[in-house]
Amino acid sequence: KNKISQKVVESEATVIKAADEKDEISQKVDYTGAQVWKVSANKTGSRVVLSRLRRKNLISPWGSNGTVIDVLVKPNAIGNVTQILKRENIPFTVSIENLQKMIDEENPPLDENEAELQDRRGHRMNWKQYHRLEDIYGFMDYLAKTYPAIVSVKSIGASYEGRDLKVLRISNGKSTNKAVFIDGGIHAREWISPATVTYFINQFAENFDVESDDIKNIDWYFLPVVNPDGYEFTHVGDRLWRKNRRIPFTGRACSGTDLNRNFGYRWGGKGTSNNPCSDIYRGTKAFSEPETKALSDFITNSGANFTAYLTYHSYGQYLLYPWGYDNVVPPDYKDLNAVGNRMAEAIKSTSGYQYQVGSSSKLLYPASGGSDDWAKAKGIKYAYTVELSDTGRYGFVLPTTFIEPVAKGSLAGVRVLAKQINKEY
Ligand code: ARG
Ligand code: ZN
Repeated sequence: KNKISQKVVESEATVIKAADEKDEISQKVDYTGAQVWKVSANKTGSRVVLSRLRRKNLISPWGSNGTVIDVLVKPNAIGNVTQILKRENIPFTVSIENLQKMIDEENPPLDENEAELQDRRGHRMNWKQYHRLEDIYGFMDYLAKTYPAIVSVKSIGASYEGRDLKVLRISNGKSTNKAVFIDGGIHAREWISPATVTYFINQFAENFDVESDDIKNIDWYFLPVVNPDGYEFTHVGDRLWRKNRRIPFTGRACSGTDLNRNFGYRWGGKGTSNNPCSDIYRGTKAFSEPETKALSDFITNSGANFTAYLTYHSYGQYLLYPWGYDNVVPPDYKDLNAVGNRMAEAIKSTSGYQYQVGSSSKLLYPASGGSDDWAKAKGIKYAYTVELSDTGRYGFVLPTTFIEPVAKGSLAGVRVLAKQINKEY
């Protein structure tokens, strides 16, 4: 099989078109004519119909809020799916008419003046655009060089394709500090996540002196891009890629493991797949992926005293606590619920965005092998998955104008957590 036809299969793509990008020819998946629909799912019957459509590869799920499920409908399936949903009496509305148009408009270049100013700062990062990995890593290195007394960067391993997995630490060096681990970009297409985590990094590193004692007296560890291979692929290949880029065996058409199904607590249970073509493929065993292995080894061996683990995803505006593997909660769930609610209040009053708080299996769906469950099972008390904005208008393709308000709101949530940690420990 040649490369192009492989890609059509693996990304469930519509049409492939050649695009020139910085002198190199890249093959980008084209979503022209693809739509996103909101499908009502309050009847059990509609879920059955939707999973059949998904197996037949006519739709792929995006997000859900319990009663309504967002699905991507491929152009050549629109007629077919319309017919089936009408016949089954399942209500739906079109929320994204032309997905490719939205992708094209999501991340416009900066105007010339702004771009020029940016070049003189020692790094190219800002929160007006979504950036390539190179800019994010360049920014992290710049902070370590500029603030060596409080900031350090290290690579905790390499991705499947050999990219560094860079962790940035911010600390005042006090030996009594508790530690917090924050990651982003487990899922490649959720661009708002690395953007948000780097916003936190920027805020704490650039303003450490004037930060509150709650922030200063915690050792912060940030891994803004857990899945660098997937992230880069969303920039040059398929904007809607979710998994890492592992090729399961040579000659196999489908690639990628869902890193958030690959962690080693209750691995292989509900909400996972053993099919490498699935978007929720769990891998061959717990921690089969270099990215999840490096993350878990780092947390286990760093010697830091982690009391909280935050992992940023999109979308849906949820603050989720364990367990995710099934509809059960840990013994101290009331603490997680209470702190989650206070975080949500802070986010709301800072940014206006409203978050729902609850256990992830209950609020979303059971899904095992998630990083949050693993962290919680390790004894890290405040383990949350944060599903950032929006609630489906743009979904994964959130315009850049959202970055600042979304990240600012999230930061207010982190401050609440920091306060709690300082009070409690
Ligand atoms: N949207 C995330 C996912 O599907 C939610 C993860 C919640 N945590 C969990 N352990 N299921 O991966
Ligand atoms: Zn995600």
